[in-house]
Amino acid sequence: MSSTTPAPDPAVPADVRVGVIGVGQMGADHVRRISERIKGARVAVVTDYFRDKAQEIAGAVPGCRVVDSPEELIGAEDVDAVLIASPGQFHRDQAVACIDARKPVLCEKPLAMNPEDAYEVVRAEAAAVAETGTPYVSLGFMRRFDREYAELRDAIAAGELGRISLLNLKHRNAHTLPGFVDTMMVYDSAVHEVDAISYFLDEQVTGVQVLLPVAGPRAEEGQHDPMLILFRTASGVIVTDELYVNTAAGYEVRTEAVGSAGIATIGLEHGRVTTHLEGGRWGGSIPADFRPRFIDAYDAEVQAWIAAIREGANVAERSATAWDGYLAAAVCQAGEQALSTEGFVPVSTQPRP
Ligand SMILES: NC(=O)c1ccc[n+]([C@@H]2O[C@H](COP(=O)([O-])OP(=O)(O)OC[C@H]3O[C@@H](n4cnc5c(N)ncnc54)[C@H](O)[C@@H]3O)[C@@H](O)[C@H]2O)c1
Repeated sequence: MSSTTPAPDPAVPADVRVGVIGVGQMGADHVRRISERIKGARVAVVTDYFRDKAQEIAGAVPGCRVVDSPEELIGAEDVDAVLIASPGQFHRDQAVACIDARKPVLCEKPLAMNPEDAYEVVRAEAAAVAETGTPYVSLGFMRRFDREYAELRDAIAAGELGRISLLNLKHRNAHTLPGFVDTMMVYDSAVHEVDAISYFLDEQVTGVQVLLPVAGPRAEEGQHDPMLILFRTASGVIVTDELYVNTAAGYEVRTEAVGSAGIATIGLEHGRVTTHLEGGRWGGSIPADFRPRFIDAYDAEVQAWIAAIREGANVAERSATAWDGYLAAAVCQAGEQALSTEGFVPVSTQPRP
């Protein structure tokens, strides 16, 4: 060290060295986020099933290296914390490996592809917590970090809307990729609303029903689009969730909470409104996908995770937990059954370890 280089201040924690597993759409977005906007962290290691892709992403991040496998990344000495952005079917094993290595992990949703696998992660974490007293898993239900979501939850909790009877939710996408069949609409799209219900109401979903209206003109093979999912909660609130994943227009997510003293709506997202002087029209634009809509929520989610790691605080304090991921998987499983069943399908869950 040269005589002019100040010694590191031991009171200031070093940057958290993050390893990112899977650098597709979401993982690459998180790498950029951590490198450009998140304080107190840097991406140290990445891996992807396609090594070329990992190399391309790492090439844009000073000091970032590529390893061949998730196992190597999780075990690496220069990785303090892991962000999993691989496809959902790999999350169980990768999350359990992080817990076994006693490293904090931010796992993109879903925690696993079925409740049994999700419960394995919950049990692995519970065993680790019993030994170290520290939770390890944060789950990427980023809507919990959206300002409007938080405001609505606070208003409901404060009783501002009175007794809630209904939540009306809408989830619309411009397009889906081939293979995005009905079960994907439940497990991949509606799963966000499933978590939002327990976030808003602080209670569990106990039953799920699916209604299939006349299909829209752009419904893909194996897809009933739009689809209406009804959820019933433990206290009797009914939630309607309209999924319309091939509108061709853009990404829209709305929530309306209907209570005895008020009705509140979030997600109107007008942004800039322009009056067109010719033609007598006015209007704005719809974001193409979820990234612009929830960019602040993703940033806040990752920043809160990094801050908790640096402070030695509970990483799952503000985020969704492994248990939330298990509950969401159990509701989605009931939703999958409801695709071919009349009436409400009950949600069954195991006790929390
Ligand atoms: N929170 C959100 O709003 C949100 C939005 C989109 C996606 N997601 C979630 O993020 C995850 C990734 O989705 P995506 O859209 O980025 O998918 P993607 O297909 O674009 O990217 C996945 C990447 O993982 C790589 N990969 C495949 N198997 C792997 C393995 N075993 N180990 C390491 N890498 C592997 C693939 O090569 C690919 O580059 C999914 O779980 C998805 O549900 C969350």
